[in-house]
Amino acid sequence: MSNHNRFATMLQNAVQEGRAVAAFNVYNLESATAAVQAAQRTGAPVILALGERYFANVRPVVMRAMVDALVPADMRERVALHLDHAAAKESCMEAIEAGFDSVMIDGSHLPFAQNAQVTKEVVEAAHARGVGVEAELGGLAAGDSSHEFSTGTQVLTDPEQAALFVAETNVDALAVSVGTVHGLYRGEPHVDLPRLQEIHQRIAQPLVLHGGSGTPAPLLREAVARGVAKVNVNTEVALAAVQRIAGLVVDKPRIHFAELGLASVEAMTAVMEDYILRFDSKRPLPLSR
Ligand code: 13P
Repeated sequence: MSNHNRFATMLQNAVQEGRAVAAFNVYNLESATAAVQAAQRTGAPVILALGERYFANVRPVVMRAMVDALVPADMRERVALHLDHAAAKESCMEAIEAGFDSVMIDGSHLPFAQNAQVTKEVVEAAHARGVGVEAELGGLAAGDSSHEFSTGTQVLTDPEQAALFVAETNVDALAVSVGTVHGLYRGEPHVDLPRLQEIHQRIAQPLVLHGGSGTPAPLLREAVARGVAKVNVNTEVALAAVQRIAGLVVDKPRIHFAELGLASVEAMTAVMEDYILRFDSKRPLPLSR
């Protein structure tokens, strides 16, 4: 295995170039195909993120093989495979063993010292193999249709604690809670940009924004201008697939399952492309926004 931390390089380049890398949750062949296709069509880098909660759908070793088979050689450097939200250190180890580019150890529900401790352990194991690490401090609220395990209580990230946490753990990227929610907003989004700015001023590492779904493009660009180098998107992509499938099934109840797969890839790719454009301050905003 190479010792090149592709995750860290990808995010550092993004900060320098005024954009964030889109991280899309993947849990089957269709979602992985859509993410690779969106990267292909936009020419942008992309992160495919398998959450610990999707291990029931597909184990890391299978996802690694699938992504290797899907990504053409000339796109390898700009497509990374990441473990999203893993509460268990064992899940991180499983993804590292499987050859993932990066892992997220999520100890955000733990007291600071325990979160820092488990993060530090994962960083040591991961960095020895050239694997990047993301951790989280603070907690996101759960919005509508959220598919996360978390309790969903919002705890905004404290800038001073964030600086301490990064110094203690040596993580490559820090996920922060500044008002975005997992799932869809139940009202207007309130993102605390001054807080994000303060965190950005205190730490050199790239920041990660979870809860991308439904966040307006101008707000996302304000976040990118304040050190956000990776934005996670899950719910809106999954809902696009389900809505497309539901429509097809209503029209033709005996439709073949294979057709639904193809239609879902198309629906997911369109939403993903739209998000990729929103995260790049050098590109015009997509017309849909
Ligand atoms: P959304 O489902 O709100 O897009 O959030 C995704 C996410 O943060 C995954 O880690």
